[in-house]
Amino acid sequence: MPSTPFVIVGNWKSNKTIDEAIHWFQDFSVLWTKQPIVTEQIKIILCPAFIHLTQLTSFIDSHHLPIALGAQDVSPYESGTYTGGISAEMLKRLVSYSLVGHSERRQHFHEQEAELIKKVERLRKAGIEPIYCVQKPDQEIPQGCNLVAYEPVWAISRGDPYATKPESAENANQIASQLKQKYGTNLKIIYGGSTNPDNVASYVKQEFLDGILPGGASLKADTFYHLIRNASGN
Ligand code: PGA
Repeated sequence: MPSTPFVIVGNWKSNKTIDEAIHWFQDFSVLWTKQPIVTEQIKIILCPAFIHLTQLTSFIDSHHLPIALGAQDVSPYESGTYTGGISAEMLKRLVSYSLVGHSERRQHFHEQEAELIKKVERLRKAGIEPIYCVQKPDQEIPQGCNLVAYEPVWAISRGDPYATKPESAENANQIASQLKQKYGTNLKIIYGGSTNPDNVASYVKQEFLDGILPGGASLKADTFYHLIRNASGN
């Protein structure tokens, strides 16, 4: 682990009704209250759907949970006549982070580089930290990104992070090292693709990896809790 804290970014993707989201938080809160985890070495970020952000913010505040919220995406446009768009301006009181260019956005919503650069700019202007996702080590990383997720498409689970083979921690570390050589050591690199409570410790150990991006392993409160516990080593 190059520096603390080790960042764990849970991505719920297009999952959970509001009732399911609240249940998740109730379950997580029970586990956390029973056995809190020392969070000096761990930073927990969770990216639910936009529609859950307001309610989950209240839940986190009232239960004093050490979870920061992130968005899964942002509009490349400012607020205005862009029906359906959720602008960075709208998000700024709700989130501190936002994913940009996740492989599923690139694949299913045909997002292209130029649009992603605009998203990064909008987020920066609103004071939200972009978590820029790349699927290959040679992809360009736009200016203004301090936190990058390397998530090779072949390693991404379809919801069950035990059913797919992850990129090995050693290979992910190698790629993080290459990216830091190219873009500077201030860049933080996290790895996404079939991380789970059983393999998380191997990623924590790596010299150049600053965190992970679990999708499937964030969907159940107890799995996510155990993943955090195993990452923290306590
Ligand atoms: P997964 O998702 O943990 O379910 O493989 C990771 C990702 O989408 O980057």
